[in-house]
Amino acid sequence: MSAIQSAIVIAIDGPSASGKSTVSRLVAEALNFYHVDTGSMYRAFTWKVLKEATDARCSAAVLDLMRRVQYECDFVAGDDGPTRLRNRLDGEDPGADLRSPRVEESVSVVAAIPQVREWLVEKQRQLARLGDLVVEGRDIGTVVFPDTPYKFYLDADPDVRARRRAADQAVAGGRAEIGEVGQAIAERDRMDSTRSVAPLKIAEDAVRLDTSTQDARHVADVVLKHIRSRHLMRK
Ligand code: DC
Repeated sequence: MSAIQSAIVIAIDGPSASGKSTVSRLVAEALNFYHVDTGSMYRAFTWKVLKEATDARCSAAVLDLMRRVQYECDFVAGDDGPTRLRNRLDGEDPGADLRSPRVEESVSVVAAIPQVREWLVEKQRQLARLGDLVVEGRDIGTVVFPDTPYKFYLDADPDVRARRRAADQAVAGGRAEIGEVGQAIAERDRMDSTRSVAPLKIAEDAVRLDTSTQDARHVADVVLKHIRSRHLMRK
């Protein structure tokens, strides 16, 4: 793995709606790095599982599909931000369906299957061959790129996270009852942090940032200051 990691990797982990997507995009844009949303990879494969009418709870069926599917990821120019990751399964980009309620309901189950994680972690590591990366997820600093010196863990109060996610869903035209959204987030957190392989946890050497009362631009500035203070950047 270290041969692959000659690129600079900024790892940004945290639970759902902790602000990591917006912060990661801003940091990638400021540094002119590629932005890698690893959650989109788990979501894309889950989308394919559902599209093929595979039972997400049947690991054997999910793994059978994993072995058959042609999964490609590459980088494309973002509409309003840094170069972003594009996932294609058998040639199809799931697009906005990545955030559909059906994918949302099943993704934690699919992401808990150890062989699915090994498969996607390998793809995530390969992306570092293409250039410097800002990678967001749950296990980036602990498992995917444990050697990077740039690790951040973002978190926020559960109520703040529920309000943020409800606002996102309202913008997307979905149903947005804060109590229900909060419960769904709590259940996802529970599954993501209690699974046997690569659970969500804070890397010992990560900088922890609470985003409850800070806007994303401020948090991104704090992240950039930490990175620059290490004098390790090549750029
Ligand atoms: O960040 P997100 O909500 O898009 O993540 C979708 C799901 O994928 C979520 O249940 C956690 C899981 N995930 C993971 O297990 N490991 C990652 N590195 C990224 C996401």
